[in-house]
Amino acid sequence: MRAVASAPGKTILFGEHFVVRGEPAVAVAVGLRARVEAEIGGDAVVVESKNLGLRESFPLHGGGEGPLYPVAVAAREGLRAANADTGVRVVVDSQIPPAAGMGSSAAVAVATVAAVAAAAGAEVEAEEVSRLAYRAEEVVHGKPSGIDNTVSAMGGAILYVKGEGARRLDIDFSPVELVLADTGIPRNTGAMVRRVLSLAERHPEVFSAIYRAAGLLARRAAELMEAGEFEAVGELMNVNHGLLSSIGVSRYEIERLVYAARRHGAFGAKLTGAGGGGFIVALAPRGVGRRIAEALGDVAARVYVVPVEEEGVRVEERDL
Ligand code: PMV
Repeated sequence: MRAVASAPGKTILFGEHFVVRGEPAVAVAVGLRARVEAEIGGDAVVVESKNLGLRESFPLHGGGEGPLYPVAVAAREGLRAANADTGVRVVVDSQIPPAAGMGSSAAVAVATVAAVAAAAGAEVEAEEVSRLAYRAEEVVHGKPSGIDNTVSAMGGAILYVKGEGARRLDIDFSPVELVLADTGIPRNTGAMVRRVLSLAERHPEVFSAIYRAAGLLARRAAELMEAGEFEAVGELMNVNHGLLSSIGVSRYEIERLVYAARRHGAFGAKLTGAGGGGFIVALAPRGVGRRIAEALGDVAARVYVVPVEEEGVRVEERDL
């Protein structure tokens, strides 16, 4: 009773922060995946991370702590989905940089739920996998919007509204690729979200206009993406970046990468995720990403050129 499942990381193209207060956001899955192997047996949840070089055992019920505990929560959800009253051993191996706003924890949670449920003999739909993985996300992030686990489970691109769920967008991404460049500055999503909300509370009228603009922008960008108008999509990414700067989540090191990407041929570039550090994302014509990556190489801590990943969660192997 063993199975392997994988799930992709993500980047937010439109609407981060604004999504927290009900505006739509657009996220895409990216071509970096977390892979999880699950083997049923024993009477505990044993989690091993190849990336962190850690291994820890958790009881089947009750609380826990530490970096591997969210994986144990996801594994328990997978067991419960399969009505399995047994232990499991889970091995995580991920290509997604952790704690960087690329949805690494959500992808690991999604792949873990799918691998454990499959190893225990259950077939669970992507939507249900996402819902169960969200519980593990709550352990890491408190009250996340749910966008990460949703796009990781579904793949492709989604238009996401908190509390309402996601619509998969129908987009042909073959003309473009993404450049993801890291400022190397650590960020704290919860702290950035609180900072924005507190600024918004102090200036409610001004901020309600900014939130409304961001929502209109995300919806228009989704239409343009479905129409394949990537130059216009890039223009709106630049506008979205301006709105994010206006609410105080950019910084010099982010701006430097954003401007360098634009100067070297990107359709558009913006910070992605919580901001204050972390990654920027640039949308580039296919084949141009490498050139942008080289130009950013001197100033970025690391750079990835990745396609949008069409496939969400996937059971790769299953031996029952
Ligand atoms: O953790 P990140 O960098 O992917 O940012 C999360 C995006 C926010 O909109 C800022 C918060 C959220 O929960 O959606």
